[in-house]
Amino acid sequence: MNVPFLNLAAQYASLENELLPVITQTLAKAHYILGPNVEAFEKELATFTQTRFGIGVNSGSDALTLALRALDIGPGDEVITTPFTYIAPAEAVHQVGARIVFADIHPQTFNIDPADVAKKLTARTKAIIPVHLFGQAAPLKEIFGLAAPRNLHIVEDCAQAIGAAHDGKPVGGHGRLGCFSFYPTKNLGANGDGGMVVTDDEALAKRLRMLRVHGIERRYYHDLHGYNSRLDELQAAILRVKLPRLNGWNSRRVQIAERYRVGLAGLPVQLPVTAAGNSHVFHVFALLTDRRDALQQFLAENSVPTIIYYPQPLHLQKVYADLGHKPGDFPVAESVSKRILPLPMYPELTDEQADHVVSVIRRFAF
Ligand SMILES: Cc1ncc(COP(=O)(O)O)c(C=O)c1O
Repeated sequence: MNVPFLNLAAQYASLENELLPVITQTLAKAHYILGPNVEAFEKELATFTQTRFGIGVNSGSDALTLALRALDIGPGDEVITTPFTYIAPAEAVHQVGARIVFADIHPQTFNIDPADVAKKLTARTKAIIPVHLFGQAAPLKEIFGLAAPRNLHIVEDCAQAIGAAHDGKPVGGHGRLGCFSFYPTKNLGANGDGGMVVTDDEALAKRLRMLRVHGIERRYYHDLHGYNSRLDELQAAILRVKLPRLNGWNSRRVQIAERYRVGLAGLPVQLPVTAAGNSHVFHVFALLTDRRDALQQFLAENSVPTIIYYPQPLHLQKVYADLGHKPGDFPVAESVSKRILPLPMYPELTDEQADHVVSVIRRFAF
């Protein structure tokens, strides 16, 4: 049995009848940039995340950059984030001219560790970007506990956790700004790039709307140094078809996670841990094993190809050499990156495919 690591074609096939008319209608209306679908989808995502405003931008990466710009974070400021994630949050900090400060992660959830964040705070710290990694919220209570007395901004990176909640409240609305990605492989994926910032703060929403269109409020009058970063009307139309499916898709991910968990019980691997107060949406289901490379190869030989997230923590990336980090600076992130193995995880994965993954792992000589 073949088990692809991802299967975006399966999602498209299940939605083709709904997507094609929406795509042709959008094309025929010929309103391609910041049209009615973007406006409607912004409201729908704001409602979904229990926030007041959504601002569509062209990627999750831009959502983070524009969020930091909206908060006026720049040269001389420091922003704390995790070294164990996709590079986008660190890149955003660099792009606004602030200093990237990493804090290590928790060995079971792989989310940023508030105890290490506390050690990294300085008088220059302006914001913390907790990434809700792999589909579950970062430890927001503890992070807010550190941020509140110092008036630090919290910018949530929700790219991997749309639909997840912390203490019953959806991710995205806990901090001042919540940033989402609609990259095709995300739990809510467009058929191209897309992103959104959500917020309860009207002034920030207004600033973000200006930043995404070259800093204008009125056409050809530029008040801010801006960007061209707009959610495409076609992608918004597509996302409006998909958003009502998201909770169902996330439930299916949780079911698959449970199937993996039961199937893999008793093996010498660390299975995903859901922290208290979190509802997990399993963007990624990853196990930890000291025999990661051998297990990955064995899975590949048995028609289960996998991809490692993330093989090299950010503090050791060449691009951040100027930060002066060395191996050993973030021991948990480094250890996890050597032992982590994500398994196939998407709503269209069948029970039989999940069982095949389990049976291959059970046959592996640990
Ligand atoms: C945690 C995280 N933040 C930000 C992003 C950036 O999103 P995008 O690819 O839409 O720019 C991604 C993924 O792509 C991500 O995984």
